[in-house]
Amino acid sequence: MAQKSIAVLTSGGDAPGMNAAVRAVVRAGINKGMKVYGVYRGYNGLLNGDVKEMNLRSVSDIIGNGGTMLYTARSEEYNTPEGVKKAADYCNSIGISGVVVIGGDGSFRGARDLTGAGINCIGVPGTIDNDIACSEYTVGFDTAMNTAIQMVDRIRDTAQSHDRCSIVEVMGRRCGDIALQTGIATGATAILVPEVQYNIERDVISRIINTQKTGKKHFIIVVAEGVGGVQDLAKYIEQRLGIEARATVLGHVQRGGSPTLRDRVVASEMGYRAVQLLDQNIGNRVVAMQNGKITDLDINEALDMKRVFDKDLYNIAMTISI
Ligand code: F6P
Repeated sequence: MAQKSIAVLTSGGDAPGMNAAVRAVVRAGINKGMKVYGVYRGYNGLLNGDVKEMNLRSVSDIIGNGGTMLYTARSEEYNTPEGVKKAADYCNSIGISGVVVIGGDGSFRGARDLTGAGINCIGVPGTIDNDIACSEYTVGFDTAMNTAIQMVDRIRDTAQSHDRCSIVEVMGRRCGDIALQTGIATGATAILVPEVQYNIERDVISRIINTQKTGKKHFIIVVAEGVGGVQDLAKYIEQRLGIEARATVLGHVQRGGSPTLRDRVVASEMGYRAVQLLDQNIGNRVVAMQNGKITDLDINEALDMKRVFDKDLYNIAMTISI
């Protein structure tokens, strides 16, 4: 039987742990007797022929590195029927029968389209946002939050010295998970997320006043990127309460850095699972974590799912951060 060839690419925003997933795909594939190609700069690599055959040593010493050794991109050309056909034709021309796509929702839509064009694709959730509905965990989330709590802890030092209120914006366009968990872990007085409609008087001002009454003099407010407006919020708090307020947008610092143990291990498990599926000629699946276990489900089913915000955790934060 001819040797099977598969490929791996990273797409969309990078996330710490993507390298660990790439490493797992390459090593698991070679272990199964497959030829494994690395595709550079997301789907663009399939359009430009920017691919390289990997060997066991191609992925040495990358498990602890942030970013992605395969680079990443959001490809406009690929997101057209012609682009998908061109990518599929390229795969066929060098015998690639399956592709592991490490990325978020947008990348999975690309994987579904490529599967439709005859190339089996498996999605692996890689994004710091933790916003993939079918999976309770996405590779990169833990590292991003650990970076965020280190930053907020530092901000707290200076907020405390000056008796100030610090408002910190963390990443997460549509998903407040980074804000919620970072807020809990740093004892934020208020946490604003896109999933919960907020009222500034009730959810920020009253909470500050109540904690002031019990002797607190400095305050941390964690705000998800999807809520935004941190500079305006700082001005409002200064005017309304007469306390000095400063806003910080953490930004891309959260996307870099060496992945945590959790991200390295989950990425390795998910990458491995993706190769098992391709080995069985199964495509159009997304690898996911459900009830703490690695599983997989149909891409269309995965893309149709709606993310459920952890309201219980949010309520715990509101109760104890006082
Ligand atoms: O999806 C990950 C993410 O970091 C979001 O939290 C953020 O909104 C977005 O990517 C930023 O994208 P870019 O790096 O293209 O500015």
